[in-house]
Amino acid sequence: MPTQLLESILHDDMQAVDRVLRDSLASDVVLIRRVAEYIIGSGGKRLRPALLLLSARACGYRGSHHHTLAAVIEMIHTATLLHDDVVDESSLRRGHATANAMFGNAPSVLVGDFVYSRAFQLMVTVDNLRVLHILSDATNVIAEGEVLQLLNAGNPDVAEQAYLDVIRRKTAKLFEAAAQLGAVLSRAEPVIEDALARYGMHLGTAFQLVDDVLDYSGDFDAIGKNLGDDLAEGKPTLPLIRALAVGSAADAAVIRDALAGGHRDDFKPVLAVLSRTGALEYAKHCAEEESAQAAACLDVLANSPARETLLELSGFAVQRTY
Ligand code: IPE
Ligand code: IPE
Ligand code: MG
Ligand code: MG
Repeated sequence: MPTQLLESILHDDMQAVDRVLRDSLASDVVLIRRVAEYIIGSGGKRLRPALLLLSARACGYRGSHHHTLAAVIEMIHTATLLHDDVVDESSLRRGHATANAMFGNAPSVLVGDFVYSRAFQLMVTVDNLRVLHILSDATNVIAEGEVLQLLNAGNPDVAEQAYLDVIRRKTAKLFEAAAQLGAVLSRAEPVIEDALARYGMHLGTAFQLVDDVLDYSGDFDAIGKNLGDDLAEGKPTLPLIRALAVGSAADAAVIRDALAGGHRDDFKPVLAVLSRTGALEYAKHCAEEESAQAAACLDVLANSPARETLLELSGFAVQRTY
């Protein structure tokens, strides 16, 4: 887990969540177990379940449904990653070959469907209609985000606002649901629930902004993913959008050609343009603003170690190197 405070405060809860995750992947279809265990066992930061657990803790939750729902959130995340790596043709994740590289596209898509629908089987056991509303809406919005992103691929004229719309849906929505669910389980006051939901939304937006910066400037060993995946897929992420807006005509031509071509050879010239135009710093600055807005949402919560940790997470989302 990303921070020491997080590790110490959530250690036991996270072990319980891991047990639910493993139990939930049981199937007598061997390929399902192999693929699902491969991706779940490869780790990951477990940020979204942590968010749900901390939110529940900050609201004084006393039951055990938070373990179930934290596992549900991680399973939805896992299913989207299985599908995302097929769509993005990515070959590396969490420092290992992606499931599509290891087992092929078809097993990844189909096991992704299995993990997704298992998440729904599990969330029903909590027997709370508001929980079902929040999670069914969130998964639907995430799917819209991924399709919107597909429509934008290769298009250099995507506006900053349209990009933000995509990342709010594809990434921030799940963070929002995770943070909100902790409050819903605890039957917190509507103002608290709303503040935690908005915290999650801003945190998730900051998180994806930084992910899109790291795709150009991250350290290969730290992020455990290949750099340049976004460019190879022709994704007009904020660094490119910014460089197109403030760069010279020659700079803009480099970006436009790269987006249209989708070749990895374009990575170096594009990186030079990003550095000349300060586009990565700009995107990082936008992430810092989102993170500050996330932190401000916590003002309504009473002081507690859980609230402190949520505050720390808003810092991690922008300072992270992995
Ligand atoms: C990856 O999320 C997908 C994005 C939204 C950028 P994480 O960076 O949280 O992935 P893991 O679970 O830690 O591997
Ligand atoms: C996040 O986008 C994907 C999802 C929300 C499923 P990316 O495509 O940037 O995520 P990575 O970089 O592959 O982890
Ligand atoms: Mg991807
Ligand atoms: Mg990425």
